[in-house]
Amino acid sequence: MSELIEKLVTANQEELAKHLESLSGEARSLLERDIASQNWEELKALHAEKSSANLADNISSDLKPMPFKIAADDLRYDFWKETGEILLGKGQVAAFLVAGGQGSRLGFDGPKGMFDIGLPSHKSLFQLQAERLQNLAAQVGHSIPWCIMTSPLNHEATVNFFKENSYFGLNREDIRFFEQGTICALTPDGKAVIDNDRLALVPDGNGGCFRALAQSGTLAWLVERGVQYVFLYSVDNALCRICDPAFIGALAADGRAMSASKVVHKAGPNEKVGIFAYQDKKPGVVEYSDLPENYRDMTNADGSLTFDGGNIAIHLFKISGLRKLQTSKLPWHTARKTVCGIEKCWKFEQFLFDAFPLLGSMLPFGVIRDEEFSPVKNADGNDSPKSARTMIGKLHREWLRKAHVSFDPKKLYEISPTISYAGEGLRQSIFDRELGRNILEFEEEN
Ligand code: UD1
Repeated sequence: MSELIEKLVTANQEELAKHLESLSGEARSLLERDIASQNWEELKALHAEKSSANLADNISSDLKPMPFKIAADDLRYDFWKETGEILLGKGQVAAFLVAGGQGSRLGFDGPKGMFDIGLPSHKSLFQLQAERLQNLAAQVGHSIPWCIMTSPLNHEATVNFFKENSYFGLNREDIRFFEQGTICALTPDGKAVIDNDRLALVPDGNGGCFRALAQSGTLAWLVERGVQYVFLYSVDNALCRICDPAFIGALAADGRAMSASKVVHKAGPNEKVGIFAYQDKKPGVVEYSDLPENYRDMTNADGSLTFDGGNIAIHLFKISGLRKLQTSKLPWHTARKTVCGIEKCWKFEQFLFDAFPLLGSMLPFGVIRDEEFSPVKNADGNDSPKSARTMIGKLHREWLRKAHVSFDPKKLYEISPTISYAGEGLRQSIFDRELGRNILEFEEEN
């Protein structure tokens, strides 16, 4: 018996072993390669563990909310911003985008970053991020390395999109694309799902980012460039202030914390965001799908939500933390989904925020939702392209108001990130010059 077959038999995957033996030539080598990429002992243990677990098992009985304050109200805010700008100017900060997900809720068949949310400029999410990064890099006088994690499902399409768009004006050498790992989906009774003589491999969750960053050589690349802080964010937030200097400065000024995370007040108990909390005194995030209803709906004496700190998927890590995480074991979460026509299959995922309890102290950095969080998740309604357009339009109009520019108050505005990163540098003469070019007017939708 070959070593591979033996491994499969020990892991209760006899059917897969038989399937492999029935194949020859190219088909056999491809399946062999898939099989060799997986840790079968771990899959067996995972299935056994998760089959006997229930939702409440994910949560400790010692769950406490994590208090946070809105950072912009803090007297140290300007100091943090200046500190962050200095660090950016020394080349000590990189951006890390996790973009390996499928975006199935949006119903867009392609990398989510390629999605055009319907702004007057028709810029994609990738372009909005690239332009913010480029503007910030110009302001601080140093390039900002950009790491982009894809998955086998969207790697080629992502890389081609950047290439076709000439990397949106950024230097190719400042961008690194790499793929995250995959894990085999299992049938309800724990057998590997086979899809046309291949394994049904699915991305291993955004928590695979620490492994992928190291294994792809990107962590070493960052270290060589002298990077000390890594701004880690999700693809779908149309308002993400990528590499926000104040956020970076706040972590740098905090002697203890290994990471920081942006936090908003939850819109309501049912909003689908993770919440920041302490479990057994360790800081972290509890995902919305793992949070039992009694905690979700719990209120304080004044009626406000007890677990109110919403995760907007914007984090910052010290590079020493990322070095530690490359070999740390994050827990696996499960989802029951139809895979290849088989109902209730097991899909396993790691979540990147499970790194926080492993790193110890973290810094919650409160931000205003209307300024920084407009995720594009659903085709309509909340968190949709339409809600993102409206939020951008109102925020940019507010920037004009604060800059004492006279504009049409009935209209919404889209200000290109090439001329303003976060509302700075606007005045009447710029407005007059850029209207119809880098400042576009549009109607509010009903
Ligand atoms: C995520 C957070 C949630 C937070 C919300 C805010 C996680 C697990 N959940 O939820 O707590 O409140 O954002 O918008 O982070 N991704 C990969 N590889 C994968 C899976 C996902 O790179 O295998 C990427 C996606 O491309 C996306 C990000 O991770 O950029 C988050 O995606 P998703 O898993 O859909 O989580 P959300 O439901 O958006």
